[in-house]
Amino acid sequence: MADLKINNLYKKYGTVEVLKNINLDIKSGEFIVFVGPSGCGKSTLLRCICGLEEISSGTLEIDGRIVNDVAPSKRGIAMVFQTYALYPHMSVYDNMAYSLKLAKIPHAQIKQMVEEAAEKLHLSAYLDRLPKELSGGQRQRVAIGRSIVRNPKVFLFDEPLSNLDAALRVQMRREIGSLNESLPNTTMIYVTHDQVEAMTMADRIVVLRDGIIEQVGAPMELYDNPQSIFVAGFIGSPKMNFFVGKLASKFNAKTVGVRPEHIKIVKSGGVWNGKIIYTEILGSDSYIYVDVGEENPVIIREEGKARQKIGEEISFSPNNNQYHLFDENDKPIKH
Ligand SMILES: Nc1ncnc2c1ncn2[C@@H]1O[C@H](COP(=O)(O)OP(=O)(O)O)[C@@H](O)[C@H]1O
Ligand SMILES: [Mg+2]
Repeated sequence: MADLKINNLYKKYGTVEVLKNINLDIKSGEFIVFVGPSGCGKSTLLRCICGLEEISSGTLEIDGRIVNDVAPSKRGIAMVFQTYALYPHMSVYDNMAYSLKLAKIPHAQIKQMVEEAAEKLHLSAYLDRLPKELSGGQRQRVAIGRSIVRNPKVFLFDEPLSNLDAALRVQMRREIGSLNESLPNTTMIYVTHDQVEAMTMADRIVVLRDGIIEQVGAPMELYDNPQSIFVAGFIGSPKMNFFVGKLASKFNAKTVGVRPEHIKIVKSGGVWNGKIIYTEILGSDSYIYVDVGEENPVIIREEGKARQKIGEEISFSPNNNQYHLFDENDKPIKH
């Protein structure tokens, strides 16, 4: 069991504040995803949690105890990095047993701990193999296995899938999800810049931007009720369309946001008009790119194969109520 509480955390490198006033409560067993663009402070926050970086001010509590000055090895936290180095000359078993041997744990107990971890990670059949005899995904699981043998209370992942190809990423997403289910008391914090990973894996997502928390919430809360234009644009793919200036004038707002999946094309008299410049037909659905005289085209998602042609003039509107209004501070307006 491990509840984590972060209070007013700041991290500075010299005079540069990389993390600013971070406040976060994480409940034991939760799967939390930190998401945000490159350089926003995700890795730094993770490193502050595990103790690889000192916290400049504020506190980190694990189960009610302040651990700012507790050594990384004493925090009950395991970290899995993007690049994992297995010992190439050691079997899967020995890779997973290594840290336990160093800790002078008796052999019989090591065997039991490694076998339990191998079972959770579907590696039981591969314990005698060398890393070079494994696929990329299996190697990544061994790297995770080396951490779970020690029964950490908190598991930290820093972009563990970003070196894998697309198909393997989907498979590993599922496997990390099922690992989370098989370890219901282990708190997991997972860092990614990929909003699809965040949406599919998280109990709650923490959106970071320039060292501050923009919003915390369940995936669908962020999708349905983004509290800023930044979150509105970051969560969802393809991203939300934004209309400003005269294109927003009917709505009494600075910006109108509509997701591609929430727009319908009408014969005439829609809210906006434009000319189709490009279509992407994906099979299950199509993306229609429409020039409305602004810098970026509007993207409309249609189910199935789009019937519209490039060059066609169309009119379109948001579905009932499925649009977001933002004021001059980029904050949402209720409607
Ligand atoms: N050791 C360091 N010294 C100075 N600046 C650093 C150091 N580590 C990270 N930074 C800066 O802190 C910011 C956040 O970095 P990081 O946490 O790695 O971002 P992310 O993981 O979200 O891509 C970046 O601007 C980065 O340049
Ligand atoms: Mg990083």
